[in-house]
Amino acid sequence: MEASFKQTTTDKAERYRLFLPQFELLISDEKEEVSVLANASAALHEAFGFFWVGFYLVKDGQLILGPFQGSAACYRIRKGKGVCGTSWTEARTLIVPDVEQFPGHIACSSLSRSEIVVPILAGEQVKGVLDIDSDQLNSFDETDRHYLEKVAALIAKTIYQ
Ligand code: SME
Repeated sequence: MEASFKQTTTDKAERYRLFLPQFELLISDEKEEVSVLANASAALHEAFGFFWVGFYLVKDGQLILGPFQGSAACYRIRKGKGVCGTSWTEARTLIVPDVEQFPGHIACSSLSRSEIVVPILAGEQVKGVLDIDSDQLNSFDETDRHYLEKVAALIAKTIYQ
């Protein structure tokens, strides 16, 4: 299989719109969790050049580091802790324009400046979170939320249905 997710347009919404159908094709034939999440992080990294992009999965009452692209990261996050643990508890997307202003932010990398965390939902149940970090302030907005929630929904449909 050859799949290139490299993009030339600079318009963010357009990039997501081009990304989604390609991404759906990439993951639609596979249900193995680790494999799908590994390809999902590779595709997101290639398409958008994120500083850190990856998954934490709910296991034994905490979040455990899953497949990702970027620097080595923390293994475990407790419920309600950090941006990821809060997104899990509240079952909603969190956009953090400046991680230093988020009480309890967990700094896996000191270079991380802003962050978006999107829960992966199977019905009401949070199965894990998609976490994306930037080394710039204010990198994520409602466009990211809108499309990354679609990415999370596609992942949930593929793996957990
Ligand atoms: N900053 C996250 C921890 C995960 S790393 O960014 C990869 C948090 O506060 O939950």
